[in-house]
Amino acid sequence: MNVMIIGGGGREHVIAKYIAGNPKIEKLYALPGNGGISQLAECVKISAEDIDGITDFAKSHQIDFAIVAPDDPLALGAVDKLEAIGVKCFGPEQKAAVIESSKIFAKELMTRYNIPTAKYKIFTDIDSALSHAALSDCPIVIKADGLAKGKGVTVAENFKQARDAIISCMKDKAFGSSGERILIEKCLTGPEVTVLAFTDGKVIVPMISSMDHKRAYDNNKGPNTGGMGVAAPNKYYTREIADECMTKIFLPTINAMKSEGRTFKGCLYFGLMLTKEGPKVIEYNCRFGDPEAEAVLPLLDSDLFDIMLAVRNERLSDIDVKFKNGASCCVILASGGYPGSYLTGYEINFGNVSELEGVEVFHSGTRREGDKYFTSGGRVLAVNAVAKTFTEAREKVYEAVKCINFETMRYRTDIGAN
Ligand code: AMP
Ligand code: GLY
Repeated sequence: MNVMIIGGGGREHVIAKYIAGNPKIEKLYALPGNGGISQLAECVKISAEDIDGITDFAKSHQIDFAIVAPDDPLALGAVDKLEAIGVKCFGPEQKAAVIESSKIFAKELMTRYNIPTAKYKIFTDIDSALSHAALSDCPIVIKADGLAKGKGVTVAENFKQARDAIISCMKDKAFGSSGERILIEKCLTGPEVTVLAFTDGKVIVPMISSMDHKRAYDNNKGPNTGGMGVAAPNKYYTREIADECMTKIFLPTINAMKSEGRTFKGCLYFGLMLTKEGPKVIEYNCRFGDPEAEAVLPLLDSDLFDIMLAVRNERLSDIDVKFKNGASCCVILASGGYPGSYLTGYEINFGNVSELEGVEVFHSGTRREGDKYFTSGGRVLAVNAVAKTFTEAREKVYEAVKCINFETMRYRTDIGAN
């Protein structure tokens, strides 16, 4: 089969690595890919958001199967357009991807189907939003409805922060049309858990749980980022909580989507908070998390491509999806300044990291020139270590991080510490 992966970050690198060995794949492409992915696939300079470019490429290169990994092409209907020209896809159709691309849709779905989540109100005009915020006890959470590159959520500690967030969304249009409608919701507290799950719309198979570290600096300080590191499994996510999530959240969500005529096929991401009243949904994503995928997929003990084919063909129940006993610790090496502005183009020195057992380096923002690699993004590398215990994985990953350097390199030193 001719297969293409859409996207060009660490998530797409780990997917490429774990499917590349499948004998069913004759030729693997990545659009646009990155420096690391170019070791495994032919990278093609077509952006993940250029849906016409992607479909034209699929036609001219006889693509049989596409893995649409990032949120933007899923929200833009890449799967619908590719399936319409006979390309089978891993990933939800546009009408199912809305579970991520509209937070208001997701909230209303949860309300209709009694899926636990924070209380909320929807606002379409700025004055009512400001008056509601003024009367609320802070902290409160302000969320732009649509996709906002991970920056559309503000946990406001006081009214001034809430007001600034509302004005930035609704008046200054910081997120364009994504902020025309907003949600104001109750602030929940408790440990956060990510659960990625394979689903073909009929059955749902959760992967090993994980904990993302979204803040830029140690001790959860600084601005939110796409994610600075991951611990997997998540130590707060017990067997009992997993069972409760299955009956109260996971199954009800896929069944709700099916009842609404929006059957979800692909990887469904549950962002959960374990509150005193039980687990609640903070957000859904319609795809693998990044960097969660870089920590969770190395623990998979079944063939990823076979699972993806089964998901597409609605035969997931035929596959025995197994995971290794063990743990992962993943640390992001970022460009200085990220998530604000930063410089790129620095050469990356990998030292002897490739000799370390159990360690893998996934490229997030790199480009390759011959056998040299240069930084090209805010998140540059995702370094992951797998070991029997989490403590061992953590020690190993920080040993690996010390081998690597590039100018301005920065990372959190406390991944999985709390
Ligand atoms: P999201 O972009 O929806 O993942 O939100 C970013 C982060 O904001 C989450 O990972 C949480 O840490 C925080 N957050 C979102 N909603 C809430 C909430 N209702 N209560 C507390 N924290 C929240
Ligand atoms: N790491 C969070 C996300 O992928 O949305």
